[in-house]
Amino acid sequence: MQTEIQALIRRAIEARKLSYSPYSQYQVGAALLAGDGQIITGCNIENAAYGPSNCAERTAIFKAVSEGIRDFKAIAIVGSPAGEEITQYAYPCGVCRQVMREFCEPESFQVIVAKSEKEYRVAALAELFPESFGPENLRDGNPKAF
Ligand code: THU
Repeated sequence: MQTEIQALIRRAIEARKLSYSPYSQYQVGAALLAGDGQIITGCNIENAAYGPSNCAERTAIFKAVSEGIRDFKAIAIVGSPAGEEITQYAYPCGVCRQVMREFCEPESFQVIVAKSEKEYRVAALAELFPESFGPENLRDGNPKAF
């Protein structure tokens, strides 16, 4: 898992370089590990109207889902102001946690926040987003079948 995590962080650091964030100048990169081992990346994408801005995590998840991938194991996230070293852990915002909750198993899905390949923290989605509302609240059975 250690090597897998480091590879994921590396991809998130690369993805952060593509961040389009002229308004906040806060750059975020994410790398999502799918069940079959593929990695889907995302960056934050801002907008002059502010509201339509999208976080890096949601960019990665929406990219994956739109390509038919819905089974996820982990996500690595790196974020910090443009032009600065990554000196902080960028935890996912509440909206991104809810979007993760839609597709990921809360107890097993791993959220990795990193400063570098060597300095990172890992938490299960359930720890970051306890007592959550999800697809099972609305309907019986497996929501992935829909
Ligand atoms: N941002 C993310 O990409 N992920 C998060 O979880 C927190 C915030 C982005 C949104 C916006 O483009 C910038 O960081 C500042 O909020």
